[in-house]
Amino acid sequence: MEPTGYPELDHLLGRLAAVATLADEALESERIALLGRKQGVLTALLKRVPELDPAERKSYGAAVNRLKQAFEAAFEARSGQEPKESQLAAVGLDLTMPGRRRWVGAEHPVTKAVADICEIFKSLGFAIAVGPEVEDEWLNFFALNFPENHPALDSHDTLFLSGPTEAAQGVGGAPGGRLLLRTHTSPVQIRTMLAGPPPYRVVIPGMVYRNDPFDPSHAPAFAQIEGLAVDEGIGLVDLKATLTHFVHRFFSPATKVRFRPSYFPFTEPSGELDVECQLCHGSGCPACKQTGWMEILGCGMVHPNVLVNAGVDAERYSGWAFGMGPGRVAMNRYGLPDIRYLYSGDMRLLRQLGGADR
Ligand code: PHE
Repeated sequence: MEPTGYPELDHLLGRLAAVATLADEALESERIALLGRKQGVLTALLKRVPELDPAERKSYGAAVNRLKQAFEAAFEARSGQEPKESQLAAVGLDLTMPGRRRWVGAEHPVTKAVADICEIFKSLGFAIAVGPEVEDEWLNFFALNFPENHPALDSHDTLFLSGPTEAAQGVGGAPGGRLLLRTHTSPVQIRTMLAGPPPYRVVIPGMVYRNDPFDPSHAPAFAQIEGLAVDEGIGLVDLKATLTHFVHRFFSPATKVRFRPSYFPFTEPSGELDVECQLCHGSGCPACKQTGWMEILGCGMVHPNVLVNAGVDAERYSGWAFGMGPGRVAMNRYGLPDIRYLYSGDMRLLRQLGGADR
């Protein structure tokens, strides 16, 4: 506290500073000596104020009050109780000043969806596998039973890497071919099967790339999770039961699912799985384009040609596969109308959905 200009008050400033060094009985007796209702020095000084010359009264009274509040704050601080704001102001502390919040970060909604999806499949006995983002065209297309003239092989759809146009060396003596940014995680099905004998139960998260515009429902780079289950005696019922179980674990046990027929070169039969829109629960809204459903994955029974291409006995083994969009899943989970929110790096999304900045 600044000196008041009144010597009889200012000589108490030494005692004010000393309060911080006192404890227990010494603290309490000093408090009574200064602020006690009967013998308190400051109480006595205040009592004199009304008798003073009116010219002197105002500024002297204010000085005594400031000193009294400073002592009160000092004693409060020693007693461990919260001082009142007015008292803190007297000793130059302003607790109304906003604090600085530390941004601790949050998991991205897609990262979170991938982790939750992997966790559910892990509990069902699936292992996690990964593969490279730069693939060759044999692994990305031909081993997966794409015909040579399939439109996905066109550079309008696929991002080929510039460089040697001659066949690159394939993995483990496989044909290889031009290099590209993988258009799906399905080539890791082939890598998994080439790496060892069946059975296989894996989920494969990763980024994929397509020569697509960045619009509300497309991104040129987005996350996928592949699933592959190959063993003796696996049928379509296993695919439907496992994926339905997954949806019920991820969304809720009451969430409706539907399978629609579809086409992929590497599965036969093929399907797509729709999940009830989590915003309108089926009644139709802008997020689901009034259909009540959201498509989350493509799936089907692994085509025997794919098993053969990967060195698996297709007479003995069968299996199913899926390719899920965790971005789609996250959009449905949080009711996001535009996929660009997930892939444009806007930190406000993490602040709002990450739950770490509340
Ligand atoms: N790879 C397909 C896609 O990206 C999805 C898929 C994976 C479909 C596995 C069937 C089986 O669209």
